[in-house]
Amino acid sequence: MKTQVAIIGGGPSGLLLSQLLNKAGVETVVLERSTRAHVLSRIRAGILEWGTVELLNEAGVGARMAQEGIPHDGCYLTDDELMVHIDFKELTGKQVMVYGQTEVTTDLYNAQDAIGTTVIHGVEDVSIHDLDQATSYVEFTHEGARKRLECLYVAGCDGFHGVSRRTIPEEKRSEFERVYPFGWLGILSETPPVHDELIYSNSRHGFALASMRNENLVRYYVQVPLSDKVEDWSDQRFWDEFSRRIPSDAAARLITGPSIEKSIAPLRSFVAEPLRWGNMFLVGDAAHIVPPTGAKGLNLAASDVYYLYKALIDAVKGGSKTGIDEYSARALERIWKAMRFSWQMTTMLHRFDGEDAFAEQMRKATLTHLATSETARRDLAENYIGLPF
Ligand code: FAD
Ligand code: DHB
Repeated sequence: MKTQVAIIGGGPSGLLLSQLLNKAGVETVVLERSTRAHVLSRIRAGILEWGTVELLNEAGVGARMAQEGIPHDGCYLTDDELMVHIDFKELTGKQVMVYGQTEVTTDLYNAQDAIGTTVIHGVEDVSIHDLDQATSYVEFTHEGARKRLECLYVAGCDGFHGVSRRTIPEEKRSEFERVYPFGWLGILSETPPVHDELIYSNSRHGFALASMRNENLVRYYVQVPLSDKVEDWSDQRFWDEFSRRIPSDAAARLITGPSIEKSIAPLRSFVAEPLRWGNMFLVGDAAHIVPPTGAKGLNLAASDVYYLYKALIDAVKGGSKTGIDEYSARALERIWKAMRFSWQMTTMLHRFDGEDAFAEQMRKATLTHLATSETARRDLAENYIGLPF
């Protein structure tokens, strides 16, 4: 088999890159380990920056999002009973969009079907070769047979546990990491949202987040110790804990119901450099992970795709290699700023085991500063709605 760009991973990064490249007449083959049903069942991000919305529109997959997505003008951050309103619209003129990652991925798969691109599911033992030659190749096992795919470029869109990043020799890679001593337990429940905007709650009992997918589907989270298992959390235990972590006015309005999904995600900050190794480029979670506080994971994947798809079109069609030469440095500059914001939001809103009274006072002071300073709120809003690509 032959293609122009081999894309490893059919999650949001791989599919969006494939969609944008094919629309511009650059041919791709996407190699995905899991089934399509499995990719679509993973409940993850829920908030899109406006730049991500515009990129999805540019990719021709914005129609259902325009109908079913919910634009949000702001969110709340709390310190026990204090609710600080961050009015994105007033402070920055911009909004964000509530539209789940599963919906984005569904729209991308449907669009790929419509233009007839090749997405191969169930591939195993992917290996990447000859990245320093004019033509590279990817080997993989599919339906019991070893296959070879020749290509000009490889896009490593295979998430944190993928093979692409590890194809770069260890001594040529720098990795920066912070592992947080807690995770997020998330549930989906077919109940109306407790508030019309998101609430990021800093409470004496730990962090909670009230998010949503639509007017009758909520996504709520609580901070939990890393040792906790999903089985430790009955629905009743979740609702009791969630309601004592959000301000009492909101708790009084909370409507509970059975959970239809429940999972725990550990929190981590991670960056690998460089993002380019010969003909291969790392994109999205393959190169970096942010803790979810601040909703940057999926949006960072989208900004990587934005830089790379233009660069690859120039390299494949226009004969200019400037874009691919600059990709790693350009993408990393924005990645590090989002790393900083996600780390700051995480530190500001979570209780750390064994922390002292001083740390708690610092969190409180940060939130009261936000409550009283428009400058501080504007800075937060500018980062939350997404720095320019
Ligand atoms: P992925 O979504 O990881 O996609 C990578 C794809 O590559 C997968 O489909 C995988 O099956 C495939 N793959 C892996 N290895 C191979 C291989 N060897 N060969 C072929 N294919 C392979 N972000 C937020 O903003 N908010 C959230 O609430 C949030 N919650 C999250 C919860 C969890 C449990 C996780 C893991 C992430 C969460 N994120 C969240 C982050 C966000 O979902 C990711 O940033 C986003 O999915 C990145 O997209 P991606 O396509 O780069 O990687
Ligand atoms: C959601 C997840 C986040 O990490 C976040 O910051 C906001 C919303 C969500 O799943 O809806």
